[in-house]
Amino acid sequence: MTPQHPATGGTAIHRRFAALPKAHLHVHLEAAMREETLRQWCAEDGAEVPPLVEFPDFTRFLDAYGLLISLLRTPERVERLLDEVVADSAAQGVVALEFASIPEKAAAFGTAGDALEFITRAAADAGRRHGVWTGAIVSIDRGAGHGHAIEAARLAARFADRGVVAVGLVADERGNPVADAAEAFAIARDAGLGVVPHAGELAGPEEVRSALDLGADRIQHGVRAIEDPRVVGLLAERGTCLDVCPSSNVILGVYPSLEEHPLPTLLDAGVRCSIGADDPLLFGVDVVDEYVLAHERMGITHTRLADVARTSVESSFAPAELKRDALAGIDAWARSVPG
Ligand code: ADE
Ligand code: ZN
Repeated sequence: MTPQHPATGGTAIHRRFAALPKAHLHVHLEAAMREETLRQWCAEDGAEVPPLVEFPDFTRFLDAYGLLISLLRTPERVERLLDEVVADSAAQGVVALEFASIPEKAAAFGTAGDALEFITRAAADAGRRHGVWTGAIVSIDRGAGHGHAIEAARLAARFADRGVVAVGLVADERGNPVADAAEAFAIARDAGLGVVPHAGELAGPEEVRSALDLGADRIQHGVRAIEDPRVVGLLAERGTCLDVCPSSNVILGVYPSLEEHPLPTLLDAGVRCSIGADDPLLFGVDVVDEYVLAHERMGITHTRLADVARTSVESSFAPAELKRDALAGIDAWARSVPG
């Protein structure tokens, strides 16, 4: 089956960035579905294809995301989704994939535990088939209340040595501060899991600071730290990685254009950043497209993008040996491209 995105078969520059080994640390599983798969499943279910790429507001975006989740109503579909997402990742030079998912919402299974069991196993199988290391991030839905957050963290903890690497925190930050998840994060941390909340996307730098105060291992987005030089300084000092998704930020109205996105400024300030695609199907970009856009539209050099790839690998929860090999591959890539 041909991948939906242009990266693998695309232009020379796409091929160049597809050859760069990288970890993809910020991507939501359901929204990494191929477009042809979406259309097939919508046709089978008599469902309307949701809007792609243009969303009048964040709620409409979450609605589209919800529709993608609702299509996953059989184990076979979940298995196919994982196979395609991991195959596409391999074609994009992704050696380590940390995908976020909300197992509670996977309607194909009796319980969230059954769902997570299936997802982690299918991910590991697909990883072996396609040569990609995978780790699941269990997303806490920040709008779903304290009880849900605690349950999601306990569920993730049960899978700490079975394919889950971290808990995340998703959906609308406004009115749902990261501090509300403190107890859930403590449960995850006690189980040896990482903590990688979304923060500083729809809310400002104070949420990035809160995430740091809660000991976040990485922060997904985090870009609005740029509004407070003290928070930027803290990120640089601590070396906390931001998993940045420029196209997502433009499409969801956080910044007016890629040219005005703060990624180059954050890198200049010494903040460690990885690049991710967030919701590839909904935003029409994969992770290679994001590297290409960072180079072509944001003026980030090859050398610096090799550093971004190094950061992605180093900040992942992948095994040490994989990291060593990937870093050697990045060094070789950096020697082969213009500065
Ligand atoms: N879930 C999927 N994508 C998201 C985003 N960009 N922000 C918050 N929650 C999300
Ligand atoms: Zn996200």
